[in-house]
Amino acid sequence: MRAVVLRRHGPAEILSLESVPDPTTGSEQVLVAVEAIGLNFAEVLSRKGLYGWSPDLPYVLGMEAVGVIEEIGDRVEGREIGERVLVASQFGSYAEKIAVTASAALPALDSYTPEENAAFGVNYMTAWVSLLEMARMRHTDRVLVTAAAGGVGTAAVQIASSFGCEVVALASSDAKLQLARNLGATDTVCYGNTGFPDQLLDTVGSRGIDVALETVGGHVFKACADCLAPFGRIVVAGYAELDYKLWNPISLWRAWRGMPRMSMESMYRGSKGLLSTHLGYLVPYPEIVRPVWDRLTTFVEEHKIRPIVGHVFQLADVAEAHQLMESRGSMGKIVMRV
Ligand SMILES: NC(=O)c1ccc[n+]([C@@H]2O[C@H](COP(=O)([O-])OP(=O)(O)OC[C@H]3O[C@@H](n4cnc5c(N)ncnc54)[C@H](OP(=O)(O)O)[C@@H]3O)[C@@H](O)[C@H]2O)c1
Repeated sequence: MRAVVLRRHGPAEILSLESVPDPTTGSEQVLVAVEAIGLNFAEVLSRKGLYGWSPDLPYVLGMEAVGVIEEIGDRVEGREIGERVLVASQFGSYAEKIAVTASAALPALDSYTPEENAAFGVNYMTAWVSLLEMARMRHTDRVLVTAAAGGVGTAAVQIASSFGCEVVALASSDAKLQLARNLGATDTVCYGNTGFPDQLLDTVGSRGIDVALETVGGHVFKACADCLAPFGRIVVAGYAELDYKLWNPISLWRAWRGMPRMSMESMYRGSKGLLSTHLGYLVPYPEIVRPVWDRLTTFVEEHKIRPIVGHVFQLADVAEAHQLMESRGSMGKIVMRV
């Protein structure tokens, strides 16, 4: 089969397709013929060597895909050849085939195209887990979402607005904020201009924010944490500003200084909380993940939510897809077709 093997860390141009042996199907695994792949910011960080959850080099890059079950391990029950599934994995999805533990292959949504399915799993689970499972969002909450036009961001805006919440969307450009408004955001603030964070404080006013989903870090995290109302919860699901070079102590110090953090004193003085989640560490616990997945899929079906597929590439154009995500130019999900 053809796959994108990460052999060293570096810029997007190091990525290309090569021929590798097909994966073998373990006894508790299913082998999936991949149709479409969802690109995640974590894969940009992995390529650069900045992602803690990556396996050792070399490995096939990629954490999610949609495809059709082609082979079933001898100890797997209840799965069928030809079943369309979404797969989540630490690695291996930038490929024509991927073998995963059967519990990590969840039923694809019938009403979605393969591209929409590829845009669904990681982003919507992250948004749902952050807002509903971690922050316990209520219908009356005012919710803030950063990087609101991105994969996780669009999912969070759709989920929170469909839940009945007032949504304040933050992003780095007006075009991105327009997309967030189209998806249901009631207020928008651009952190790409000089008026930030004052404009955020003006927008949220004395009412403040009840729930924030934050994925940028640095001064954006700080501004969001500062506008939490009493009983407010901020969930950190990412840190896209993270950038450092291992051999450069100043860049390491800057990265450390920009890490999202809150002092216990500011939490108890403000009755507010800092929470965090990482889907990767939940994958080994299907008994926890599956009920959450069922709640999420029921919700999106009830509210007729469709993922925002912003850009579609061929897998052979993986380097361009990474360049787009890194450039901060993408809106919605970047998907690669196989
Ligand atoms: N915890 C989890 O389980 C989990 C799962 C999936 C994703 N995530 C995190 O959620 C975030 C969004 O992921 P995604 O895959 O949906 O990506 P994405 O939002 O589609 O793209 C990343 C976005 O981050 C923002 N950004 C801020 N600083 C950036 C920088 N220095 N370089 C590039 N982009 C920057 C950009 O939006 P603006 O230009 O509007 O700032 C960009 O569009 C990431 O931080 C990712 O690591 C976490």
